[in-house]
This record gives sequence, C-alpha cells and structure tokens, in this order.
Amino acid sequence: MKPSLPDAIDYREQSPEVQERFSRLKERPVVLSVEGLGKTFPTPGGEVTALKGVDFEVFRREFMCVIGPSGCGKSTLIRILAGLETESGGQVLLDGNPVAGPGPDRGMVFQSYTLFPWLTVKQNVMFGPKMEGKSGSSVEGEARQWIDLVGLSQFENSYPHQLSGGMKQRVAIARALANRPRILLMDEPFGALDAQTRAQMQSYLLQIWRNLDITILFITHDLDEAVFLADRILVLKANPGEVDEIIEVPVPRPRRLDQSIEPEFIATKHRINQLIHPESEGKEDTLPFARMTVEGDDVE
Ligand SMILES: Nc1ncnc2c1ncn2[C@@H]1O[C@H](COP(=O)(O)OP(=O)(O)OP(=O)(O)O)[C@@H](O)[C@H]1O
Ligand SMILES: [Mg+2]
Repeated sequence: MKPSLPDAIDYREQSPEVQERFSRLKERPVVLSVEGLGKTFPTPGGEVTALKGVDFEVFRREFMCVIGPSGCGKSTLIRILAGLETESGGQVLLDGNPVAGPGPDRGMVFQSYTLFPWLTVKQNVMFGPKMEGKSGSSVEGEARQWIDLVGLSQFENSYPHQLSGGMKQRVAIARALANRPRILLMDEPFGALDAQTRAQMQSYLLQIWRNLDITILFITHDLDEAVFLADRILVLKANPGEVDEIIEVPVPRPRRLDQSIEPEFIATKHRINQLIHPESEGKEDTLPFARMTVEGDDVE
C-alpha cells in the first residue's frame, strides 16, 4: 500500500511567513522576463510545437527550477534563453532588453561535460574573459578566485581528464561565473553524477549562490533536487510545452538535507508529482509477466 502523503500545498494557503517571503521576493527587480514564448520545429512528420505561450519572470537573486516530463521543452526553453535557438513567437527580456543571440550576460552549464579537454582548469576558466578581450595577470587572478570558490585550487593546472565528474561540473560552474553573468542557466548539470556526488554538488551550488549576487534558472528531472534548491518551481506540461503551475517552495532556508523528511518538503514533492504524473495517482504499474522460476520455488 502507498504511504499516505500530506495534502498538496497550495501556495495560496501558505502560512503568513511564507506568503511574506514570496511577496518580498516579487518586489525585487525582474532579471529575466519570458513573454508568450513559443517554439515550433519543422520535422518530416509535420510541425512539432515544443513550447506554447510560456510566461514567467525570474527575480533578482532568485533560484528558480524548471521541471516537467521528458520532451516537454525544458532544453528548448533554456537554449532560447541562452540565445542558442530562436523563438517562433513571444520574447525574452534580460534586464528589460530583448535577448538576441548568445552573450556573456548569461552563463550556461550543461549536463554533458563541456570543458575544453586541451586546456587546464585555469585556462578553461580564463577562456570567456579572454574572448571578451581581457588579458594579463588580472584575468589570471580572477580565474584563481573562481577556482577557489568552487574548492579546486589544488587542481588549477590539471586537465579535465584528470578530474572526476563532480569536479568537472565545478569547473564548468567556475567557467560560467567568470564572465560575471546576470543569470546562470543550468540544464540538468548534475544529471550524470552518482547520487552522493549529486547531493554534494547541490549543497556546493547553494553555498555559491548564497555567497554571490547571482540569479539561477536550473532545469532538473529530479523532484528532490528541485525542492531542495528552488525558491520557486516552474512546472511545464508536455505537448505542447506550457506552464502548468509555478510552485512557491515553503521549505525554509538555509536548506539542509534532513529537511527532506519534513511535511512541507514531502507535500511540495507530492504536488509536483500530481502535476507531472496525474494518471499514475493511486495506480500501481503492472508489467507483462514471464515466469523464469519453476512453480513451487520459494519466491514472492
Ligand atoms: N532540433 C529539433 N528539431 C525537431 N524537434 C526538436 C528539436 N529539438 C527539440 N525538439 C522537440 O521538441 C520537444 C521538446 O524537446 P526538449 O529537448 O526541449 O525536451 P526536454 O524537456 O528537454 O526533454 P528531456 O527531459 O528528455 O531532456 C520534443 O518533442 C523534441 O522532440
Ligand atoms: Mg532536456
């Protein structure tokens, strides 16, 4: 039998403290504004609508997560925000200015390891500022500060193949931050890491976010990750990718791993689950059966 879960938290029924927290968040300046965003892809089988009428805002220093079923348009959304893909309709504003193409004001971290394998950690981190025409010892000094911030000072002269997956992603974060972006855009950055490293990276990221004046938009498949990290969670639904709900996470900060058993954490997860998998509510998955044991064997 399924364990009974607390009722879904509706942000309109949040406690006065939580309501107060989110009304203060919404008084901050808007960093990213997405208005009526649409994206269609022509395919041999006809047009695919990946995104339709997506509207939301991200406030200064907010940590927003985006979650939704596979294929609902999460990567398409972040690629448009990064300027790597053009929208079919609507617009994206960064600090009030329309986004047209990639720029150093947006830092990207992807799931796949994207460091340049022929450059050292320090050279990877210095790459962006050098492309911007900066040079000299100040760039090197700044790169060292970013590497220090992600705790990899001892590895500044190592090459990516000498690092673990978690360390590579820490370098990728340092490299993205080295351009001093207005917003960090992260597409499942910890998706390829084992569970323990992933939990460690989530804590690192929250520390970095707290220490810096940075706004983060973070895509994930993982419900626990979203609730652990986010101020608000944008839930997308598929076919076409539309905003289903924006959830205000009531779990207090600073976050700790042991909060994952608190009622508000479980209730928030439950609410996302209801939105993402409405048809599986209360149903057990049944799989086709093929007997590989002899009848009478003492197995369940
Ligand atoms: N370049 C493309 N050409 C045609 N269709 C595309 C292209 N890129 C994405 N799509 C389609 O757009 C939809 C959204 O894809 P997208 O990769 O954004 O989903 P996602 O939410 O990131 O999925 P996942 O969780 O599996 O990473 C899918 O139906 C996908 O097939
Ligand atoms: Mg994706």
